[in-house]
Amino acid sequence: MTTESVLAPSSTWWRQATVYQIYPRSFADANADGIGDLRGITSRVPYLRHLGVDAVWLSPFYPSALADGGYDVADYRNVDPRIGTLAEFDEMITALHGAGIRVIVDIVPNHSSDQHPWFQEALAAGRGSAARERYIFRDGRGEHGELPPADWTSVFGGPAWERVEDGQWYLHSFAPEQPDFNWDSREVRDDFLRTLRFWSDRGVDGFRIDVAHMLVKDLPDPLPTQAELEAMDAASGTHPLYDRDEVHDVYAEWRTVFDSYDPPRTAVAEAWVATPERRARYAAPTSLGQAFNFDLLTADFDAAQFRAVVTDNLAQSAVSGSSSTWVLSNHDSVRHATRYGLPPLHGRTEVKQGTEWILAGAPADAVDLDLGLRRARAATLFLLALPGSAYLYQGEELGLFEVGDLPAEARQDPAYLRSVGQPEWSFDGLGRDGCRVPLPWTRTGSSFGFGDDGAHLPQPAWFADLSVEAEEDDPASTLTLYREALRLRRELQTAEELAWDDAPASVLSFTRPGGWRTVTNFGDAPVPLPAGEVLLASGPLPDGELPGATTVWVRAR
Ligand code: GLC
Ligand code: CA
Repeated sequence: MTTESVLAPSSTWWRQATVYQIYPRSFADANADGIGDLRGITSRVPYLRHLGVDAVWLSPFYPSALADGGYDVADYRNVDPRIGTLAEFDEMITALHGAGIRVIVDIVPNHSSDQHPWFQEALAAGRGSAARERYIFRDGRGEHGELPPADWTSVFGGPAWERVEDGQWYLHSFAPEQPDFNWDSREVRDDFLRTLRFWSDRGVDGFRIDVAHMLVKDLPDPLPTQAELEAMDAASGTHPLYDRDEVHDVYAEWRTVFDSYDPPRTAVAEAWVATPERRARYAAPTSLGQAFNFDLLTADFDAAQFRAVVTDNLAQSAVSGSSSTWVLSNHDSVRHATRYGLPPLHGRTEVKQGTEWILAGAPADAVDLDLGLRRARAATLFLLALPGSAYLYQGEELGLFEVGDLPAEARQDPAYLRSVGQPEWSFDGLGRDGCRVPLPWTRTGSSFGFGDDGAHLPQPAWFADLSVEAEEDDPASTLTLYREALRLRRELQTAEELAWDDAPASVLSFTRPGGWRTVTNFGDAPVPLPAGEVLLASGPLPDGELPGATTVWVRAR
């Protein structure tokens, strides 16, 4: 195991890194107010180090009214007082760096909170003011401007235009509390450059860019209708709202900031764009440098689908020059241990145009948890063997399931709240709170060791058996599997290459340089074990065979 406590300066550390996503409000609570905080993260650095991750990515911890779990930022260069202080941020980063773990923070540039001083100023300054130019204000339609400028729907459901007191309307692609910035404004651009420098100066190693494809817009007059928008080619680079070619001019400016540091700061784009080719543009070295590939997250546990995803994405990374990224879970989707216990995704889950969030809130009794977890462990070992960087989401190392039965009154997600009673806006699900429930650290105790008091989302009784304490010393636990896998991955990881081996239709087998071979049985019936020394398996290997829903790593002799 690499145990260096000082980070070796390297401009390529991210290419095959394992990055662990922390959702700060739900990770660890150090001051017993039910909300996770920075001191909580600092207290768990030994855990992260033992897990063996190369970096953490922190979802937003900035001051926020929490209309969207912190993705509504009121001050980009500060810490929410409920989560900590800048001094505690510095302590956290020192502790993480001391443990050899790099730090990525989330930047939310498409929109601010409606509590941001600039938006408040825009409201007060009135129509035609310079302050309104930082956002996207328009007059309404109808005799008195009483109709929204267009009939557009927001990503979270409901209208995308909201009226303000003096009668004008502003655009919010997400919740009304998240007004979209006007990226034609030089002030907006300069302010984000300042934010990137602010966190880079504090030692942050990289940035995750929220909805990176949406910033730059070109709203024609008259505005198109929703139906017209949907009929437009989203891969053209000229769609009024999404993935416009000019967004890369913004990132070219950011690149000069990233590259002014040593080592250069990195970035990864969250870009839900129409094609892998469009995504590769965000991963280019002149743009953000890396982009999330959510294709495994949206695939069924299926050999042909997995193989196609891997082949496509490795081809794209050859084009962009970046390394590929792999994701099975994050704070926006149903945890993969639950997803894989549901009937196959394709044809069942509503896939929202442009967003493809998986919010399949199936009833608990429709989930085969045992199968879901076996497949999740197999998929994770498959993913961790791929060339490129692996993004893990807090709690998946415990094999946590989605908490599907949160009471309605406990739910916080605007994607859920805005769709209640509005089936036509519904995401066909329960929203994203079920994957954001605070982590169980101990078997017992109030909030299972998350803190000394409650948790801001209620934890189910079954968290006890999936707690860190319950799994820590169990050789068969998911936590032990992740620790072993990450330790071996560091040792085995070589060039960003793989070669597919011959295998039956329901099996995928590939070999990395150095003879590291990964075989996943996506089917039900056992298949013969490959030759070689077994390094690790996602489940038991009875009778010298590889059972269904199992992955094995072997080293060629
Ligand atoms: C991204 C985030 C999601 C958030 C949305 C709006 O998709 O991952 O959590 O709600 O952007 O900021
Ligand atoms: Ca707290």
